[in-house]
Amino acid sequence: MIGSFSRFAAGLTTETAFDVLAVARRLRAAGKDVIELQIGDSPFPTPPHALAAAHTALDADQTHYGPSLGLPEFRTAIAQSLQRDFGLEVTAEQVAVGAGAKIFQTFFCEAFLEAGDAVLIYEPAFPTYVPNVLRRGAVPVVAPLRPERGFRPDPHDLARFLHTQPRAKAVFLNSPHNPTGSVLSPDDLLAFARLLHDTPVWLFSDEPYCHMVWQGRHISPLSLPELRERTVAVYTFSKSYSMSGWRCGFAVAPVPVIQVLGKLLNTSLSCVPPFVQRACQAALEQDGPTRDQYMHRFRTKVDLLVRELNRLEGITVTPPAGTFYVFADVRPICQRLGITSHGLAMYLLEGADDRQGLACLGGECFGASGQGFLRFSCAEPDERLVQAVQFLGRVVAAVSADGPAAARLHRWLDQHPQYRRGEDRATSR
Ligand SMILES: Cc1ncc(COP(=O)(O)O)c(C=O)c1O
Repeated sequence: MIGSFSRFAAGLTTETAFDVLAVARRLRAAGKDVIELQIGDSPFPTPPHALAAAHTALDADQTHYGPSLGLPEFRTAIAQSLQRDFGLEVTAEQVAVGAGAKIFQTFFCEAFLEAGDAVLIYEPAFPTYVPNVLRRGAVPVVAPLRPERGFRPDPHDLARFLHTQPRAKAVFLNSPHNPTGSVLSPDDLLAFARLLHDTPVWLFSDEPYCHMVWQGRHISPLSLPELRERTVAVYTFSKSYSMSGWRCGFAVAPVPVIQVLGKLLNTSLSCVPPFVQRACQAALEQDGPTRDQYMHRFRTKVDLLVRELNRLEGITVTPPAGTFYVFADVRPICQRLGITSHGLAMYLLEGADDRQGLACLGGECFGASGQGFLRFSCAEPDERLVQAVQFLGRVVAAVSADGPAAARLHRWLDQHPQYRRGEDRATSR
């Protein structure tokens, strides 16, 4: 090979959910019965009006370039939906359409960060925040989310960040939170507003789960005048409308920021395919009842998974306040078996049984503060969720007793020493 990769590319960490997904699909193709709870996707189909609108748009040949910031009618529909759903006063000029929510992490960092700027990230965190900060040569400053605060971000950590980092430039917030399911309270946000007042710090407010709040309600920093002027809030069709593969999302920000996002879109994606935008516009305008029904079904799934998991010895689950994730504390099991939590996840998928497997993620896939937890998504039908927990219970009980199952686990750990507790050297997050 000629030359060498950049230091950034060579050291890039990725979203482990996609790596585990690839393993799960390979095993499935080889005939294994794999229950897939690894990725934050939906078992429900694209809502009907969205699908019909896409067909109509394709028949009308809406398959060409469009404006980089998005189709004007779509941007208007987005602004109206934010008013309707969350009482937010947003105009179409404050909206930029992109390919999902994730791409806006890259654009946000490109818009605001210089090398050496400091960015506060609460951890466990969505795995692509850190790589996007590093992409700019900026410095991620990590603060832990603590179980005793229900995993909600502690404003004291923000105060310390502002006090100790002369180059403080941005904060990543994510509520409802992946992977812990925490939801910011109004008091949390007020504390953030008071601290950020009079600073040059920008807020990236990642809100893909805005319709999935089971306790309290969703509050965006956009609803506080003190925060609105320094916030880039990001939404997606992947979760609320079960449209992850359509790759469509949007950002809301002050107009000058949207103009910069327009340049970043222009120089990278060009635009989101118009027929995709038409489908998403129809979802906003006509698929509200389907979305609400999906949300209700997700809530039932989350309750089911929490109830079933809490029956197992060595596992403790606090019901998530939002999202379709369950973040289970499995520290006693990991300690007893001498395995990391992601090791346990991979053993359940690959090692424990030749015919059956369970795909989920170790909490460390979201940063070191997630160690000792397993994240389950609710991306399978209810009966498969129950089967998943039964399988987990069976495997853990079997390996905990001295016998062939324990010997099998030890053999597997010999082949995968990176998953022994104390030897965790995973580079992927
Ligand atoms: C917190 C968070 N941000 C961003 C994304 C990415 O969303 P999208 O797939 O719409 O780009 C996800 C998806 O799981 C997420 O959980």
